[in-house]
Amino acid sequence: MKFSSTISALWAASAFVTANPLLRRDTNASVSTASNYTQTATISDAASTTDSILTVTQGSFGALFKPKVMIVNMFYKEESAWIQNLELMYNISVPMLSPEYPYVHANSNYSIMSITTGEGEINAASTITALSMSPLFDLTDTYFLISGIGGGSPDKTTIGSVTFAKYAVQVGLQYEIDSREIPANWTYGYVNLKTNQPNVYPATIYGTEIFELNENLMKRAMHLASNVTLNNGTSGNVAFRQQYNSSQAAYGGPKILACDTATSDVYWSGAVLEQAFSDYVSTVSNNSATYCSTQQEDNASLEAFVRAAKHGLIDYSRITIMPGISDFDRAPEGYSATDFFFAKSLQGGSSSAFTNLYIAGLPFVKDIIAQWDTLYKVNQFEPKNYIGDYFETLGGVKNFGLED
Ligand SMILES: *[C@@H]1O[C@H](CO)[C@@H](O)[C@H](O)[C@H]1NC(C)=O
Ligand SMILES: *[C@@H]1O[C@H](CO)[C@@H](O)[C@H](O)[C@H]1NC(C)=O
Ligand SMILES: *[C@@H]1O[C@H](CO)[C@@H](O)[C@H](O)[C@H]1NC(C)=O
Ligand SMILES: *[C@@H]1O[C@H](CO)[C@@H](O)[C@H](O)[C@H]1NC(C)=O
Ligand SMILES: *[C@@H]1O[C@H](CO)[C@@H](O)[C@H](O)[C@H]1NC(C)=O
Ligand SMILES: *[C@@H]1O[C@H](CO)[C@@H](O)[C@H](O)[C@H]1NC(C)=O
Ligand SMILES: *[C@@H]1O[C@H](CO)[C@@H](O)[C@H](O)[C@H]1NC(C)=O
Ligand SMILES: *[C@@H]1O[C@H](CO)[C@@H](O)[C@H](O)[C@H]1NC(C)=O
Ligand SMILES: *[C@@H]1O[C@H](CO)[C@@H](O)[C@H](O)[C@H]1NC(C)=O
Ligand SMILES: *[C@@H]1O[C@H](CO)[C@@H](O)[C@H](O)[C@H]1NC(C)=O
Repeated sequence: MKFSSTISALWAASAFVTANPLLRRDTNASVSTASNYTQTATISDAASTTDSILTVTQGSFGALFKPKVMIVNMFYKEESAWIQNLELMYNISVPMLSPEYPYVHANSNYSIMSITTGEGEINAASTITALSMSPLFDLTDTYFLISGIGGGSPDKTTIGSVTFAKYAVQVGLQYEIDSREIPANWTYGYVNLKTNQPNVYPATIYGTEIFELNENLMKRAMHLASNVTLNNGTSGNVAFRQQYNSSQAAYGGPKILACDTATSDVYWSGAVLEQAFSDYVSTVSNNSATYCSTQQEDNASLEAFVRAAKHGLIDYSRITIMPGISDFDRAPEGYSATDFFFAKSLQGGSSSAFTNLYIAGLPFVKDIIAQWDTLYKVNQFEPKNYIGDYFETLGGVKNFGLED
């Protein structure tokens, strides 16, 4: 058992450096050399001829920690393989994290850390915002690996597989009418905002519908994972995969693959909703994104990251999303949607998904540490594709649907 301690962080973070013996344990600790961040507020009103500008220091100013990698998990079963195997034994309490997950976990030299957001879109956005704004951290060079389980489409993937996403789509931003009350010629009850029938391009945009990530970095992480041996799961998992027909991707063993992810607070299941949300992903991305996984947080985390990146607090090109498939989004032939969904013993692939996320993500984490000076400190995997949100908050020109 390694020495484990709770570091209590105050907003007046500098007071705690000298008081804390932990920070002197390892002279190679990844601590920050005080990068600057100031926040400026411009106060304007119609009557004034000049604006008032107020500036305060905030964010990474005087930060204590400058991690090289931050693994982002959503709940305790996802965090444990990372925390235990990478010996992330230092708990750093950070204001405004989830009450259920109040700590950032760090290894002994603070180069590798993990954070757990709590589940659902609100927890993810709030936690990532709190982390990004914490004066304890300088995250400007940090690589983020979002590592969580999700549902998978049997046409694209199978339980135990690990996917790498270029696009994340928030599928909940729609109107919904219960399927029992819809016109006979509709296939489902979801209708895009400011439109009046299914699957028409939305006529109003909130800005969090779609996020695009650095494809070069995603390819690097996937390449590094290409030789790993994924865990097949239980004999029940192996047998259950064969219940899908042999032309579906569900049928074979788990694999590493690239495909896109859908975010929804509602944990949905079944062929009708699968059709609704997979249509939404294609429509809102102008057919650039291919739905294969679904989870409850990624777009929310990405929205918080976009805002942090806009103010220089993090580098958006250093984020990778890795959904691991724990279950299928719909039943194989011969099962009702409810029997399938509630009789989890039928499929239950989550333990292989937790294991495989660690197995597939570890080579990337190791590579970041081992090749920090040569490849990662100055990002050698700069994006060639557009990155960011629908509103082009980080600059560049979005070209969803126009890329090859
Ligand atoms: C710190 O780094 C130096 C030089 O790279 C190395 O020799 C030393 O073992 C490291 N110390 C620790 C505690 O890792
Ligand atoms: C912090 O700001 C000062 C004053 O603008 C500047 O001289 C210094 O280089 C900055 N330091 C860093 C690490 O950016
Ligand atoms: C540190 O965090 C881990 C993982 O969340 C938790 O299990 C453990 O109880 C915490 N330890 C302390 C001392 O807070
Ligand atoms: C920090 O710890 C990691 C993981 O134990 C190790 O690989 C790395 O070499 C250490 N870095 C430094 C600068 O000592
Ligand atoms: C959610 O994030 C994904 C990237 O992981 C992006 O492709 C998608 O457009 C986002 N969706 C919404 C609705 O924000
Ligand atoms: C359904 O039928 C209505 C009335 O005939 C028509 O206006 C509408 O375009 C049809 N919608 C779809 C999705 O086919
Ligand atoms: C995968 O294994 C092959 C054969 O051993 C090796 O040549 C290659 O470098 C490995 N690739 C990675 C990314 O580890
Ligand atoms: C197998 O599944 C695919 C994809 O869902 C479907 O198109 C095909 O008709 C199915 N084949 C059989 C034999 O059920
Ligand atoms: C995993 O299952 C697949 C087929 O489902 C099989 O081809 C492969 O050999 C199995 N791998 C292991 C390590 O058991
Ligand atoms: C999709 O294409 C339409 C024009 O056909 C454009 O208005 C819209 O902005 C595009 N959407 C995205 C996400 O690029």
